[in-house]
Amino acid sequence: MSIPVLLRMMRDRLSWQLQPREPEPELVMHSAAQTQAFAQAGEDNGVLAFLYLYNAVQISSVLQPGDRVLDLACGPANQLLQVARLNPQAQFVGLDASPTMLRCAQDAVAQVAPGNVALLQGDMTRLAPFADASVDVVTCTMSLHHLPDLAALQATMREVRRVLKPRGRLYLIDFGRLKRRSTQRFFADDLRLSAQFTNDYFNSLRAAFSVQELSSAVALTGQPVSCHATALIPFMVVLCSAPQHAMDAATRQRAEAAFAALTPEHQRNFRNIAGWFRSGGYSLPCQLG
Ligand SMILES: C[S@@+](CC[C@H](N)C(=O)[O-])C[C@H]1O[C@@H](n2cnc3c(N)ncnc32)[C@H](O)[C@@H]1O
Repeated sequence: MSIPVLLRMMRDRLSWQLQPREPEPELVMHSAAQTQAFAQAGEDNGVLAFLYLYNAVQISSVLQPGDRVLDLACGPANQLLQVARLNPQAQFVGLDASPTMLRCAQDAVAQVAPGNVALLQGDMTRLAPFADASVDVVTCTMSLHHLPDLAALQATMREVRRVLKPRGRLYLIDFGRLKRRSTQRFFADDLRLSAQFTNDYFNSLRAAFSVQELSSAVALTGQPVSCHATALIPFMVVLCSAPQHAMDAATRQRAEAAFAALTPEHQRNFRNIAGWFRSGGYSLPCQLG
């Protein structure tokens, strides 16, 4: 981590101010421009490639063969497909409220044809299409901040409790609320892709829930879940069940191949995010690269 980044983080950590949460201007991502910008960021070797692989590896360690997995707010499904490719023995349903996003996701699924991914339009605060105790694992990546308020976050967690089987598992990751607007601006400007993406990213950081809000809400799932934030400042927060197992050889081989396919810059970013979480007490189930 460079000295300017470290200084920026220390300034945020020591700050007395705490910016209030500002909900996303577009909660459900209906806009074609937003959908396209986000889908582009999630392409193989798009700016989010390192994060998608990081999540896929962490999610793999809570999955079991035969699991039914519900991915809340799957968006264009790049992340979902990455997890599904690493775990061909599990079945996945991606849910999103935006028909625009789902059309994009459908195209991506059709192109990859993994055979274990279905998509559904729906609202994560009301999981009516899913019966009680019908899902083994719930995942949700970079989407909880799209909920309008704390009540919607709590409603989502109560629904997660209802649809999860008694020994169900969770992996949720999102931004945490940073204290200073200037830190949010700094991180948004750091991932340069397009003006649309930078603006959406800044809005996401402003809409992030605090670590306290996320961990209190996840307690409503009734599952034993631990909360891990990146070291020094909660740039990202993971709420997850304890790993079920070490990564098996076949999954590990697929993860290693995915890591090898990343550009050197994304491999560096992968190591950075893994190191940042590890310093916050959350390690990978296996070393890659
Ligand atoms: C930033 S994208 C993240 C997509 C994906 N999970 C990923 O990591 O790439 C957020 C997604 O949440 C969806 N969304 C927002 N509110 C929702 C809700 N109440 N129910 C379901 N999806 C929602 C948006 O339409 C959008 O596709």
